[in-house]
Formats: sequence, structure tokens, C-alpha cells
Amino acid sequence: MEKFRIIGGNRLCGQVDISGAKNAAVAVLPATVLIDGVCRIENIPNIADVTNTLKILKYLGSKVRYINKNTVEIDNRNIFGYIVPHDLARHMRASYYFIGALLSRFGIARVSMPGGCNFGVRPIDQHIKGFNALGATVSPMENGMIEVVANRLVGNSIYLDIVSVGATVNAMLCAVKSRGFTIIENAAKEPHIVDLANFLNSAGADIRGAGTDVIKVRGVDHLYGTTYSIIPDQIEAGTYMAAAAATGGDVLIRNVIPKHLESITAKLQEMGVYIEEYDDSIRVCRPEPLIHCNVKTMPHPGFPTDMQPQISVLLSIAKGTSILTESVWDNRFRYVDELRRMGVQVQVDGKVAVFQGVDYLTGAPVKATDLRGGIAMVIAALAARGKTEIEDIQHIERGYENIVDKLAQLGGDICRIVVSDSVAVRAL
Ligand code: EPU
Repeated sequence: MEKFRIIGGNRLCGQVDISGAKNAAVAVLPATVLIDGVCRIENIPNIADVTNTLKILKYLGSKVRYINKNTVEIDNRNIFGYIVPHDLARHMRASYYFIGALLSRFGIARVSMPGGCNFGVRPIDQHIKGFNALGATVSPMENGMIEVVANRLVGNSIYLDIVSVGATVNAMLCAVKSRGFTIIENAAKEPHIVDLANFLNSAGADIRGAGTDVIKVRGVDHLYGTTYSIIPDQIEAGTYMAAAAATGGDVLIRNVIPKHLESITAKLQEMGVYIEEYDDSIRVCRPEPLIHCNVKTMPHPGFPTDMQPQISVLLSIAKGTSILTESVWDNRFRYVDELRRMGVQVQVDGKVAVFQGVDYLTGAPVKATDLRGGIAMVIAALAARGKTEIEDIQHIERGYENIVDKLAQLGGDICRIVVSDSVAVRAL
């Protein structure tokens, strides 16, 4: 068991490189199952969610070879498995992409219901709606598995009742090699949806409209091996933007697509943060105190729910009252109990949190409740006075490559400690 120990108060300054996008990588890697050939995927983030996705691929019979830390070669020509057991699926939400991918490849998939961050109920009815529309039958099995079977997937019209990233990805995976034409309406528009479409098109698929709310897929018989580079992680970039702003720092964030960051940039500017955009980097500087503002999360291109905990730290130290409304998930404020231990003044009522800005936060022992809640603790700790120790950092390491080194390189006083050490230190 390890923790992060952070001594707050240092301004983050310097340059940081953003890794490949987690939520694109965890869709592209299962999508390689559809391809009769060798894929080389570059700019893969070195994080636990990717390691777990690759474990599933190996279990199914993929040959996986790392070319270097961020490039992986995957050969699915002789893949044979169509079952993803609980032990492998439970670590992450995106394991449900194997349903669409295996169904498309073999006409059958048996996959355990996925794990991932706990934001309350996380239904998959819209995924099932897509599978059914293309001719598959979905049956619950024992032990929390579901079986999805189709003799032949046939293109159809799918209207999603809710804008869902996962359901859009699964519908695309099923449609890509089905017979005929599929139209996905009310589709998600996130950058990782576009990245998945670009990857599949580079392998010979015919997908148009990704990035709008209508995606059109003409089924093809074969997909071929390809080389593809994953886009930079929008949320990792936004996280460093928030960390720079929280500490009154000045950071050049490199390897980003500034267009993907527009909703985050706009909110930070409203709070008095100075931002300069370049072709593939962005400078974030906060010379003055933060100004309070209201934020509401929305599907892309709105303010991302995956940045909600990070911006909450800024609202908690911005002078005045700020309102933060979560409109994507039912229960994404579990982390605020931990932030309260650091002096954050917040009232939560359902999906709305009201922050009363304080002059400063204070270090405290806290726990990462989930991935983004956990990184919010890190940002709060960097901005706080004194020492913070954060437990359950495995949540954070699911999604942030090299977080300790990257923050330390910017001047953050952060290190990893083993729990027994910290007990000894406290006892002294
Ligand atoms: N929903 C349904 N039925 C469904 C699917 C979703 O009601 O069949 C609801 C959900 O309960 C939620 C909303 O629709 O209220 C949106 O869920 P979505 O399906 O878009 O979420 P997801 O695909 O499970 C992905 C990201 C999440 C991110 C959400 C929203 C991946 C692997 N995960 O989840 O990322 O919060 O989209 O943008 O892409 C994270 O990276 O920290 C993270 C949680």
C-alpha cells in the first residue's frame, strides 16, 4: 500500500508533456479485436487502465508487444476467446467495449459487468439498445456476466435516448463490419469518439460524422492492420491547467489540442486565469486571486464532468460563492467529504454543490475516492498550507501517467511513500 505525501505551497512553474488520452486508448485497444492484421498504436498512456485492457487482450489470444513505453503492437490474427471474466473486467468501466468488439468479430461475447469509478447507478440500457437494433440478443447469465449473440449483424438506425460515450462506442464497434448502413443519432461527440472513428477508418472502415451527433457507418467486410497515434488526453491537460491555477503558477502544457480544451479554458479565464494558446501547447498563469464563478458539466463540447472535481478545488479558494452543477452523473460529489477535511466550505444538495471560497486550504490525511476525485485531492494538497497524505492512490494511477514525476518537475513537493513508513513517521 502506497500513499502520496504532498507539502503544499509551491507555485507550479515550468513545462509538462501530456500523455495519450486514457478514454481514447481504452476504446481503440478493444477495437483492434475487429482487425485481421497487426496494429501499431502509438502515444499509449502508461497507466493501469491500459495495462488492464492489454491483459484482457492477451487473455483472448492477442499477441501484444511493447515497442517502447508508449507504443504497442497488437496482432489479433489468431485471437480465439470471446469471454471476459469478472477478474479482468472488474477493474475498469471500459471493459464493456469488448462486448461490441467480440460480438462484431465472433458473433458472440460473454463479458462480466464492468467496474470503474462509483458514481451511483451506471446502467447499460443504451448499449443494449444498440446491440438489439443491429440484430443481437442480449441475455443475463449467472455471476454478473452477460451474453450477447448475433448470427449476422445488420445495419440499422439507432437513436440513443441519452448521450452516452460508451453506448456510442459500442454501437460503432458493432456497426463497422455489419451488413449495410447504420445511423447513430444523438451520438456522443467527445474527442475520443472522433479518435476511435479515425482509428477504424485508418484500418479501412467507413465511418462519417464522428464529432457531430449523427454518425453514419457503412459496414465493410475487412479491416486491415494499421499504425495509429492516440490523441493527447484532454482531461490530463485540464488537470494540469487546474493545478497551475490553484497554486498561482505559470505552466506551459505541451502536446495538447487547444480546441479540445476550449470549455475549460473559458471557465479558467472567467476566474481570472491568464491563458495563451499555441498550436499544440497552452500556457496557464494565475497572477491574481481567483474570481468565483458557476460551472455546469455537460456532454462535449460542454464543460467535462471528468474535470468537475478538479475545478471544485479552484472554486473552493475563489473569493465569494460559486455553484457547481453536475448534469452527467447522479452521484459524483462523494469526494467533497475528503476536501472538507482540508478546509473546503461546501454544501451539496443532490447534483448541486455550493462553494464558499476560503482564503487558504490546510493539509490533512485524505483518501482518493475515485480517479478524478483523487486527483482533486492532489491539486488541493499542492495549493494547501502544510502536509497532506493521500491514501488509495491506485484510483489516481488508473488514469494519470507519471503523476509524481510530472508534478515534481513543475516544482510540486510530492513523493510516494509506503504506508508502513508513514505510520512510523507519525509515531515519532
Ligand atoms: N447512461 C445510461 N444508460 C447507458 C449508458 C449511460 O443511462 O446505457 C447514463 C449514465 O448513467 C450517465 C450518462 O448516461 O448518467 C453518461 O454516461 P456515459 O455512457 O457517457 O459514460 P461512460 O461511457 O460510462 C465515459 C468515460 C467517463 C466519463 C463519461 C462521461 C470512458 C472509459 N469513461 O463513461 O470517464 O465520465 O464518459 O463523459 O470513456 C473518467 O475518465 O474519469 C470517467 C469516469
